[in-house]
Amino acid sequence: MRIGVLTAGGDAPGLNAAIRAISQMAFRDGHELIGIDNGWVGLAKEFAGRDLTPLDIAGIVGLGGTMLGTARYDLDSPPGGRDRVLAAIGEHLDALVAIGGDGTQRISHWLAERGAPVVGVPKTLDNDLLGTDYCIGFDTAVGFVAASLDRLYTTAASHHRVMVVETMGRSTGWVAAMGGLAGGAHLIVIPEFPITMDEIAAHLEQRRRSGSGFSIVVIAEGVNLETLGGHELKEISTEGVRGVRLATRGVGQFLAARIEERGDFEVRTTVLGHLQRGGSPTAYDRIWATRVGACAYDAATTGKFGMIPVVRGRDVELAPLSAVANGQRRVPNDIYDLCAAFF
Ligand code: F6P
Repeated sequence: MRIGVLTAGGDAPGLNAAIRAISQMAFRDGHELIGIDNGWVGLAKEFAGRDLTPLDIAGIVGLGGTMLGTARYDLDSPPGGRDRVLAAIGEHLDALVAIGGDGTQRISHWLAERGAPVVGVPKTLDNDLLGTDYCIGFDTAVGFVAASLDRLYTTAASHHRVMVVETMGRSTGWVAAMGGLAGGAHLIVIPEFPITMDEIAAHLEQRRRSGSGFSIVVIAEGVNLETLGGHELKEISTEGVRGVRLATRGVGQFLAARIEERGDFEVRTTVLGHLQRGGSPTAYDRIWATRVGACAYDAATTGKFGMIPVVRGRDVELAPLSAVANGQRRVPNDIYDLCAAFF
């Protein structure tokens, strides 16, 4: 078989581990493995597939980023991109493994519905793909947030300051919630559980009254500014199609300024940004990326197209792409309540 593999959307630590798993198994079984450069671009424009060899994947398991390159690319603008991808798959490949988040898997689903031999692999550092407990990159990001909070803790305590820490999280607050829980945050503000400025200020006042001289407040970049008494950018409604860079809204800075207005708090802001996406994947990300990659390979070589490996508990199962393609998995009440027990 000629098996193509691509990575699309934002990069994430662990992508190379998944590429390695798929490639290694293809080499073992005597299939051809075609690496497609830069996500859908490599199929929608000139075909950018190249034969990978065992040498290409040697030593990549611990490397961040993606050795194939990636891109955020809207196949509908200009129109016709999807059809060109469909044609390129038909012409060049017997199977395609598309590693990516919800945007990527929506395309995979569309292609599979039209008979293309496509299998997905769940990747998003935001960890909010529907139907799976795990997405490639999340564990590394959470570890980075926790380690950052450890550092901010000591300087916040020394200066008796409020530290506002902005994390990634386009539509959901998984990185903020889990990173905040692991790093001992005193308040976590995420899109799923809106909180007003009055409540935030009251919480910080109460901490101060009870003798805690400093506070660490974690906020996800996707929190709606209106819940904090601001005005949402108009373009936010197009965010689902990658219209706006969320970090440019400066939600962390905005919150810090509102806290300072509310009382004599000294506040500093740290935007963790792309540091959360860079660097080496954790062992956990390498292992699970390998597991979902291996499962996708099995699906691709046994004709189980239109499917995607998902993690449920300790198991990897195959689910239809339709089950993950529309919507986001949101932080549930019990997880948020657990975080809030430490506020
Ligand atoms: O979708 C994953 C993500 O990391 C979001 O958390 C973040 O808003 C976005 O990507 C950043 O994208 P870019 O790298 O294109 O700025």
